[in-house]
Amino acid sequence: MNYARRPGINSVALSKLAAREHDSFLAAHRESARLSADSAAHWLGGVPMHWMRDWSTPHPLFVRRASGVEIEDVDGNTYVDFCFGDTGAMFGHSPPAIARALAETGARGITTMLPAERVARVGEKLAATFGLPFWQITQTATDANRAVLRWARAISGRARTLVFDGCYHGTVEETLVRALPDNDKGGTRARAGLIGMNHDVSTTTDAVPFNDVAALEKVLARGRTSAVIAEPVMTNIGMVLPEEGFLQTLRQLTRRHGALLIVDETHTLSTARGGYSRARGLDPDIWVCGKAIAGGMPCAVFGFTADVEAGMRRVQRERAGGHSGMGTTLSANALALACLEASLDELMTPANYQRMQDTAAYLSEGLGRVFAAQELPWHVARVGARLEFGFGRPPRNGAESEREAWPDLEHAIHLYLLNRGVLLTPFHNMMLCAPVTNTAHVDLLLGHLHDCLREVGSPA
Ligand SMILES: Cc1ncc(COP(=O)(O)O)c(C=O)c1O
Repeated sequence: MNYARRPGINSVALSKLAAREHDSFLAAHRESARLSADSAAHWLGGVPMHWMRDWSTPHPLFVRRASGVEIEDVDGNTYVDFCFGDTGAMFGHSPPAIARALAETGARGITTMLPAERVARVGEKLAATFGLPFWQITQTATDANRAVLRWARAISGRARTLVFDGCYHGTVEETLVRALPDNDKGGTRARAGLIGMNHDVSTTTDAVPFNDVAALEKVLARGRTSAVIAEPVMTNIGMVLPEEGFLQTLRQLTRRHGALLIVDETHTLSTARGGYSRARGLDPDIWVCGKAIAGGMPCAVFGFTADVEAGMRRVQRERAGGHSGMGTTLSANALALACLEASLDELMTPANYQRMQDTAAYLSEGLGRVFAAQELPWHVARVGARLEFGFGRPPRNGAESEREAWPDLEHAIHLYLLNRGVLLTPFHNMMLCAPVTNTAHVDLLLGHLHDCLREVGSPA
């Protein structure tokens, strides 16, 4: 690890803390270590999905149980969870409404490739909650984004997609891009580190910095963009908030230049019931959400306007028969639909959102106090129940946010907290407050974070 010097942090103290926490983790997680070694016999890297090794822990932590706000590992350690499966469990682990839906529907046919009886009712509830008249279901947000980008190209007859630099919309090839440095024409290259990528993103995708109206307009004005796909708040490269009026301008410019606006709210569902778009009147053409939408069961949805639906019907009429190139066999299975309905009825309630927002506001203020106490010039960003702290001033775009990142410090903080029973998301410094998170849970996090920063936080 490279414990480079930065203002306000003692790099020697940081490296000592990281080494000590590494050893404490090993001492307290012997059963996880054993399972990790056993699992390596048949799983790549000892885990069922390779990125499960991306945590700051020396070896994977094996989970026995997760319920409400708490996770218990196989060594019997318990954690207050602020990661919530990187948003999949944003409404808490195994909420009773979802467990009930799973038990009831699971006994009555899981997947038939036919629409379940509740489909019409769930469609009505989606439309009422999110304000768009037409809907489709996929298994993951990745699948949904892949499908809507195809629909947008088919409807518009245009080939290119526009994204914001530093975005993440799942493992959809044409969105796995970075903007070329010092390029104001939208030029892109593939993200670093992609495995087996054979998709030339420069031929399909433009990227511009978030909050940069001039660059956005320049690319849209070429008239080649089928759709802009965007999170309303960037959440996958730290958190980057939109500047005043930026999203409204994005909406106007996409309309003016004939591009569809796809808003991916897989993470910003944290904002309020109905998501960020509904709360702020964003009026997208297509709206996407996965992860927590069905309480953690694999399920994603995309909603769209009547105009988009008419475009889809036209495309269907005009295309040759055969495979559409969209869809997966298990999409919209009965279990996913049942959980989606339970989630709409019992999780995404105004009362739950109020609780989540109140707790998140309490956490945000507390973080500000902890940083001020250590005289650290750090910032906190929040979108409803979702928070992120960053090691500098609030960034304007993905590149600025990336420059501020500090992986060694992040890992050390995460491991310190984990060893004291608090889980943060392994990627940057994201925290979620579920309806079951309370101020005592937040105080636990704040107390340990304060101690951690006091230990490493004096100038060298
Ligand atoms: C904004 C956004 N969209 C889509 C996805 C993809 O979700 P999934 O991995 O569930 O397909 C993610 C995942 O982090 C995301 O953050």
